[in-house]
Amino acid sequence: MVVRISGVGCCLVDRIYGHVDFHSEVFRKCLSKNAGDGGLEPGKLTFEEELERFAGLSFVSDILPRLTEGQKADKENIGGPCVVALINASQLAYKESDVSFYGCRGDDEVGVGLLEKLSQTSLDLSHYRIEKNSETASTSVLSDPNYDNGHGERTFVNTIGASWHYLPEEVDEGFYDSEICVFGGTALVPRIHQGLNTMLKKAKSKGCITVVNTVYDFISEKERPGERWRMGESDESYRFIDLLIVDREEALRLSGCEDIPSSIAFFREKGTGAVVVTNGAQNISLWAESPLFGSIKEQTMPVSEAVGKALKAGKKGDSTGCGDNFAGGIIGSLARQTLFPNPSPSKGTGFSHHRGGLFDLKDACRWGIVSGGFACFYYGGTYFEKQEGEKFAQLQQLYDLYLKQEGVC
Ligand SMILES: Nc1ncnc2c1ncn2[C@@H]1O[C@H](COP(=O)(O)OP(=O)(O)OP(=O)(O)O)[C@@H](O)[C@H]1O
Ligand SMILES: [Mg+2]
Repeated sequence: MVVRISGVGCCLVDRIYGHVDFHSEVFRKCLSKNAGDGGLEPGKLTFEEELERFAGLSFVSDILPRLTEGQKADKENIGGPCVVALINASQLAYKESDVSFYGCRGDDEVGVGLLEKLSQTSLDLSHYRIEKNSETASTSVLSDPNYDNGHGERTFVNTIGASWHYLPEEVDEGFYDSEICVFGGTALVPRIHQGLNTMLKKAKSKGCITVVNTVYDFISEKERPGERWRMGESDESYRFIDLLIVDREEALRLSGCEDIPSSIAFFREKGTGAVVVTNGAQNISLWAESPLFGSIKEQTMPVSEAVGKALKAGKKGDSTGCGDNFAGGIIGSLARQTLFPNPSPSKGTGFSHHRGGLFDLKDACRWGIVSGGFACFYYGGTYFEKQEGEKFAQLQQLYDLYLKQEGVC
């Protein structure tokens, strides 16, 4: 038996251009004059569609080639909280899960390259459809290492492209026949995000475990600056979320609160079953009150010291996709727990130590913590395995060290 995990949401290409001159004529022409006018702003993200409107030029055929002097991207990585999380979940639960991604890409070169990379993973891509005459979602990361007296700065241009066309109706019954349904970074797949309530409700009515992991909601920020970000059609969505995984900033912006404990209280009052909040190299926070996870009072867990030490000792990589891999680690662990329901190494047998829940959320968080940490050891969000089980073996080592760090064994 395997656990079926299906995920819908954000999959995009991160295109990194390492040598863009923010003082060039074309950059200055595209430079924002008033906040939110669609122009480029060093350190900020703008949407391709708005930049084009602002500059009166096409991004792909005019602006980008001039900014990059016709050079190709230095790196093209798989990005997007849904697909990156799913890949990690499939690498962690490589024996125990079948993982499918639901989404849509454009029929352009970027999309072909993305598919080629995704095909090197074990994800089932048969529900990843192609939208004709459309651009594949991407984030162009424009980096000027000389900007600000040599401190360097990055500017981001996001293309939603084909993701505008992906609808809840296209997510077929197979999605809801899964044990675990993941809604990842849906804020960047607008129609799915707007239909989240309905989709979550349906998944719950079919008995699925629903996991939502979020992304910075640039669309909300743009359309309703200063307002609390929306989660689907209404706040009712929260009632159908078994597990919400957010980073600190997302927690605050979704809840409209000013600190993590108040935001957890907000999600709890709205009916969410369990919440995990990450905060970079700082402690994570978690809380649960549900039949699935039992009762876990709000508490924190530290990040992996072994990861911190390795980074200090000069291990190279970047923090891209830490949060997405963190979510994937939790999801992979839940899949493994479905088949081997006694993962906690420290205590007794059966479910008793889960305080009435079916799953051990703290143990799932350990796998999230080591997965998020491991993502600091390589560039981009996705680790490409040479063989199945390779990443799991490395995560297991970090996991064992984490247990020691906690004093569990
Ligand atoms: N410097 C670090 N050392 C150890 N672990 C880290 C470090 N940075 C990140 N992590 C791990 O990754 C997890 C997620 O990181 P973070 O909170 O930065 O996610 P995020 O903001 O969603 O990032 P992104 O959206 O870029 O993937 C952390 O909770 C932690 O477990
Ligand atoms: Mg994130």
